[in-house]
Formats: sequence, structure tokens, C-alpha cells
Amino acid sequence: MMAIGIFDSGLGGLTVLDAVTKKMPAESFVYMGDNLHAPYGVRDSSKVYDLTIKCIERMWDEDCDLIILACNTASAAALKKIQEEWLPKNKRVLGVFVPLIESLTKRNWGDNSPPREVDVQNVALFATPSTVASRAFQRELAFRAIGVDVESQACGGLVDAIEDGDLILAEALVRSHVDALKRKMPQPQAAILGCTHYPLMEEIFRDALGKNVAVYSQANLVAESLLDYLDRHPNLSSNNKPKNIFITTGDPVIVSMRATQFLKRSVEFISA
Ligand code: DGL
Repeated sequence: MMAIGIFDSGLGGLTVLDAVTKKMPAESFVYMGDNLHAPYGVRDSSKVYDLTIKCIERMWDEDCDLIILACNTASAAALKKIQEEWLPKNKRVLGVFVPLIESLTKRNWGDNSPPREVDVQNVALFATPSTVASRAFQRELAFRAIGVDVESQACGGLVDAIEDGDLILAEALVRSHVDALKRKMPQPQAAILGCTHYPLMEEIFRDALGKNVAVYSQANLVAESLLDYLDRHPNLSSNNKPKNIFITTGDPVIVSMRATQFLKRSVEFISA
């Protein structure tokens, strides 16, 4: 059974899974969360690379020829090396940065024209410490846009709080990270939720940022971009009776409980 793989360090990629299953109800998806090793955002890039390729190999056992790294930390730390040095020819792995940046800079897929001026000038980036340190977002943005000032805020502790299901702590952390960002950039025009866990707290981000800030969150953008990709690569479409499988390296009972809480529908994980 061919299926499309959606990978994250933990629960965050479920925001992407939710959007892609809504947009592509006829596809089969395999979700994998490396909950045992989350958060990735405080690890160095070689560790993130090693953990990510182990999970990709596990997803190949489920016949996933196309895998989306629904994790900015893994996309920033490992994707380039995976694509350039490791991936066999018949397999594809895509990340989640590019659709976001294309949307921010109003570009169509594959528009490789030189960077140009765009509408937004002040952008706030909220991401994990390791994504912020990688500067991958600024690098990808610089290929496409000029004159954009990016101020980033490493949201330490937030992924742990979400993974632990501690939403009171998560809310307090969102508010204090938004305050910290606003001290550096008082009036951002746009805010990027650059970690797939953060859309689970999107309402709090929106509330703390205020209504004049456009909030970009990845789930729908990635879903649109995947739909477009499958149009161009129909052989990677799963073409069978749709079926979803959820795999975790963590405790399947706890992970299922949290996933059900976040997605507001019953989700059952199996052990990796
Ligand atoms: N959800 C992931 C991301 O998009 C990783 C979070 C983490 O494990 O630190 O960055």
C-alpha cells in the first residue's frame, strides 16, 4: 500500500496531517512522531539528522515513497544533507519552509527569478532554538526577497509544554515570547509560526500579537503545496483505498491521548 509520509519530532506535524487529509481525502497517509526524542529543537544538527533518517527508514517500511518533514527543526538541520547525500533516487523527502516563504513572498512554486522587493518589511519569526540558530529561514528568504527585516524569537520550552499537554504553561510561554519579540520589533507586519507545534497555540499567538499582525502558519500552505506537487507527480499519489496509520517511538497510549486532545478526534498510535 503506497502512502505519503508525514514526519515530526512529536505532535506538531499533526497540524499538517490534519490539513492534508482534509484537502486530499483520497490519499493514504502515514504519520510518524519521534515522541521519544522530542523536542528536537534543543539538539545539535547532527543528532537531528541521525534521528530523522531513522524515522524516514521506518516510514519506508510502510511504503512511503514521498515523505514530508512536517518539522521545521528537521527541515532546517537535516533536509539539505538528506537530499544531497543520502536519499536513494526513487524516494522523495520534502520540507516545510519553502511553501511558507513562497506564500510570504507571493511566489508560485518553482519561481526561481531573482529576489525582489515584497509587501512585508518587518517579519517576526517564532521557532525552536535550533531552527533560529540555523538561520535557514533567512537563507531561503534571501533567495526570494530583498529588504525584509526578520527578527526571530527562539521559543524555549514551548514544544516541551505542548508535548506534555500543559496548555497553561504553553499559553504563558507564548505570551512571554511574543512580549520578548515585541521588545525587539515593536510592530511586525507578519508573524511566522515556524514550528509545526505552534499552530496548536495559534489563537494565543494571534491574541498576543494583536489584530494588525498577519499570522502565517504552515499547515494549509503545506497542504496546498502538496496538492500542487502531486498534480505534477501523479505517480506519487497513493492510489488506493485511503487509510491512515499513526506511528510513535514514544508511549502509544499517552501519545494517542494527547493527539486526540489536540485534533479533537480519536487518533490511535501504534508503537514504532
Ligand atoms: N515541530 C517541530 C518543528 O517544526 C519540532 C519541535 C521540536 O521537536 O523541538 O520545529
